[in-house]
Amino acid sequence: MTDLTFDGKVAIITGAGGGLGKSHALELARRGARIVVNDLGGSVDGTGDSSSAAQLVVDEITAAGGEAVADHNSVATAEGGAAIVRSAVDAFGTVDILINNAGILRDKTFHNMTPDMVKPVLDVHLLGAFNVTQPAWLIMRDKNYGRIVNTSSNSGLLGNFGQANYGAAKLGLVGFTRVLANEGRKRNIKVNAIAPVARTRMTEDLLGPLGDKLDPSQVTPTVVYLAHEDVPVSGEVYSTAGGVVARYFIGLTEGWVKDGHSAEDVRDNFEQIRDEDGYIVPDDPSGELGKLLKLLTS
Ligand code: NAI
Repeated sequence: MTDLTFDGKVAIITGAGGGLGKSHALELARRGARIVVNDLGGSVDGTGDSSSAAQLVVDEITAAGGEAVADHNSVATAEGGAAIVRSAVDAFGTVDILINNAGILRDKTFHNMTPDMVKPVLDVHLLGAFNVTQPAWLIMRDKNYGRIVNTSSNSGLLGNFGQANYGAAKLGLVGFTRVLANEGRKRNIKVNAIAPVARTRMTEDLLGPLGDKLDPSQVTPTVVYLAHEDVPVSGEVYSTAGGVVARYFIGLTEGWVKDGHSAEDVRDNFEQIRDEDGYIVPDDPSGELGKLLKLLTS
């Protein structure tokens, strides 16, 4: 099998001044992609900014013989998103790959969560993806080519304590991924997501001894494949951590059917409703509607 190369492809990686984004940027550059290293350069909670984080990664890429430019705009506004894509067009003429990776944390149990912990987290993770993807999308649609990788999290997929803001944003990104996969199908734009676990400044206090096995470089190979021309899937979510790569999927149980049923019927058949035997994994809403049609007309 040949190596996965990216010669001439242009990739924007948001939040690439450190952690996972930096690892993705270095590896995509090493494989021949031209990179926009975006990073606001703030702290984990999103406060502050500094232009050095992105520039240091650019310096590392260019020192290794690669091509990259730094971009310091925030993903959290539509203007910032447009400016990030403009950086790619100004430097390299186009955009082929977008890795939505920028993120912040403002954890708190829900009953103590104040609005200043909610909106900024949604703005960076969820709206951030909208803000950067839309201007990139218009270019990708025109050229009939694009690869997008969104960064979700088990926090949203499974529900982590103290992260109602972050978890909502991260599962929102799965909906975003699936809808865009659907809309991009006819234009050769493939959109997938990862749910990573890695030791970065965001998690270094949480992972304990397991952290030693969870280097960001162990997440990057999945991102590289999902960003490649050859990726065979769209609309999917991959768990990737420490060299373990697996697929998350949304399953629908076989369920139970009775026309004109009562709440007591639901109670009395709850076990069968929840039974995971015979579940299906619908690709899109027509997958569920097809199943409904079969059950309701049989
Ligand atoms: P990190 O804190 O090292 O990286 C996040 C980067 O995003 C930082 O460099 C930060 O400056 C940048 N950033 C923040 N706000 C920005 C904005 N408005 N505009 C541009 N850049 C901005 O943390 P890490 O772990 O590398 O996180 C990367 C992504 O992976 C995040 O989306 C995070 O939520 C996600 N993730 C990480 C996990 C982990 O185990 N480390 C687990 C699940 C998801």
